[in-house]
Formats: sequence, structure tokens, C-alpha cells
Amino acid sequence: MKGIVLAGGRATRLGPASRATSKQLMHVYDKPLVYYPLSTLIHARINEILIISTPGQLPLYEALLGDGSQWGCAFSFAVQAEPRGLADAFVVGAEFIGDDTVALILGDNIFYGWGLGEQLQRFTDPDGAVVFGLWAHDPQRYGVLELDEGGRVVGIHEKPEVPPSNLMVPGLYFYDNSVVDIARSLPPSARGEIEITDVNACYLTEGRLEVCRLPFSTDWFDVGTFDAMLDAQTWVAGQQRRKGVLIGSPEAAAHREGFIDTAQLRHLAAAVDHDGDLDKSGYGERLLRILELEDGLG
Ligand code: DAU
Repeated sequence: MKGIVLAGGRATRLGPASRATSKQLMHVYDKPLVYYPLSTLIHARINEILIISTPGQLPLYEALLGDGSQWGCAFSFAVQAEPRGLADAFVVGAEFIGDDTVALILGDNIFYGWGLGEQLQRFTDPDGAVVFGLWAHDPQRYGVLELDEGGRVVGIHEKPEVPPSNLMVPGLYFYDNSVVDIARSLPPSARGEIEITDVNACYLTEGRLEVCRLPFSTDWFDVGTFDAMLDAQTWVAGQQRRKGVLIGSPEAAAHREGFIDTAQLRHLAAAVDHDGDLDKSGYGERLLRILELEDGLG
């Protein structure tokens, strides 16, 4: 399965901070926001990944991430000229996807849950589409699932004024190859975008949408506003300090999923190609602590 990180958009809700930089390159505590969705894909054991961003910002992603080989991955980069909607990722990424299945993650979505990686690995060969349902007290801000009395999903709605349930659909989706043709055939919505919710509704109508409910304990952030960013920063800092883990680290994820070995992880922690910047920031030390933690957990 291939993966796409969608990291474009105008981020107007973060102005003026977003005027001269990309939201997904801003830091959430000790690492750029885009590291978090990247590490989620890596935990799903996906390592062929396309990063999509705006023409002005894409070179910054190339400079930050390189070709991915340092993390046992292969990164490609593509421009989305205009923010035409989330489903446009499959139009922009059609050549990259080729004949394969594909996972899409939004570049501003942070997921964290014990065992989440193993759970995601079950969906990398979908016969149709797989989306997730997560309890939210404010579902009207997102895609929302509609259920019948038996708990079966019968509808999916984008930002409904009156949400039919508290189950929202976070920004991580797994699809078979027909998603490219579906995205190409979608008309733009009232807000002028081709909507991911319309893609999912299409699969639902065809009886090919699987919905996986994430545990209530799953931590999830959509980092779209200053308050959401502050919440995410505080949460990451607190978790990392208390548990000694490194959340959203592609290096740690790549090591855990076997894309790089311990010697490579130690090399990355030293950041020899970057003047030891990880040493000075403490990130390198936290990376090495992962090895102790893995030893400790057995
Ligand atoms: O975060 C989960 C939600 O994401 C889902 O529950 C919704 O169903 C889905 O539509 C989406 O809603 P948002 O309102 O959060 O989408 P937004 O327009 O903010 O776009 C999400 C990210 O994708 C954002 O960081 C910018 C980027 N983006 C967006 C568009 C429309 C692009 O890179 N290109 C685009 O064309």
C-alpha cells in the first residue's frame, strides 16, 4: 500500500503565523507537525509516501524530509496548485498511486493510541474503503457518521448543522485503487471543493465502506487553530515527559516497524549531517531513550 500526506491549504485560521510558512511545518512541541502523520503511516508499515503541498511550500518539505531513505522510506513530492479539496489528493497523486491501494492522512492530524499501529496494519489491503469513527463532543465540526438502530452506518455527512451521532471521521482513510476514478468523477461541493466525505459516501452506497471504531481512549488532534495547536503542544510535552516516550517521531516509528536498525537509529540521533542539531535540542537523547524503553518493555 502507498501513502499520501496532504499538507497544502492556506491555513487562514493561523494567520499571520501561516503567511510565510506552512502550517504542517510549524512545530508541535519538539518536532514539525508533519512528523506526526508521517509516523502514523510508518506505524501502519507504509513506507512509499507522497507528500502534497502548495507550489511555494513544497521545496521546504523536500528540504526537511529528503528522499526518506534515512527512515527506510521512499518519499515523493507533488504540487497541488489550488486547494481543490481533500479528494484532489487522489487526482494529484494518480500517477504515484498507479495500480496500488492507498492511505491518505491529513498533514494536520495527530493520532496516538496504544496498539494503533497493529490495528492500522490490518487495513493495508482494503477491498473498498476503510474509515474510522471516533467519539467527539463537537462532531458538527467534522465528517460525521449516521447509524441505524442496530449501530450500522447508513450515512456520512460533512459538518452537518445537526449531527446525527457523536461519531466523527478523523483524517486517515484507506482505499482500494478505485478511489482514483471516484475522485476524478466527483463534482465540487457548495464550498467549491471535491470532498473526502463524498468519496466515502460513494463507497457506502456501493456497500464497500468499512467503519472501524477507534477506542474512546485514542488521542486525536486536528491542529487547525491556535488553541488546537496549544492543546496538542501541551499534550505531547506532558506525555513525553511523564512516560519518557517520543510521540510522532518518524525515526522511532521506523525503528519499531523494522525499516531501520538500531545502528541507523543511533546514527540519526547523533544528527551528524546536521551539525548535531538533535543533540542540542534534546531530541537525539529522547530518541536513544526509546531503545531503553523497548528493552524495558521486552
Ligand atoms: O480533521 C478531520 C476532518 O478533516 C474530517 O472530519 C472532515 O471530514 C474533512 O473534511 C476534514 O475537515 P477540515 O475542515 O479539517 O478540512 P480542511 O479544509 O481544514 O483541510 C484539512 C487539511 O488538508 C488542512 O491542513 C489543509 C489541507 N488541505 C485542504 C484542502 C481543502 C490541502 O492540503 N488541500 C486542500 O485542497
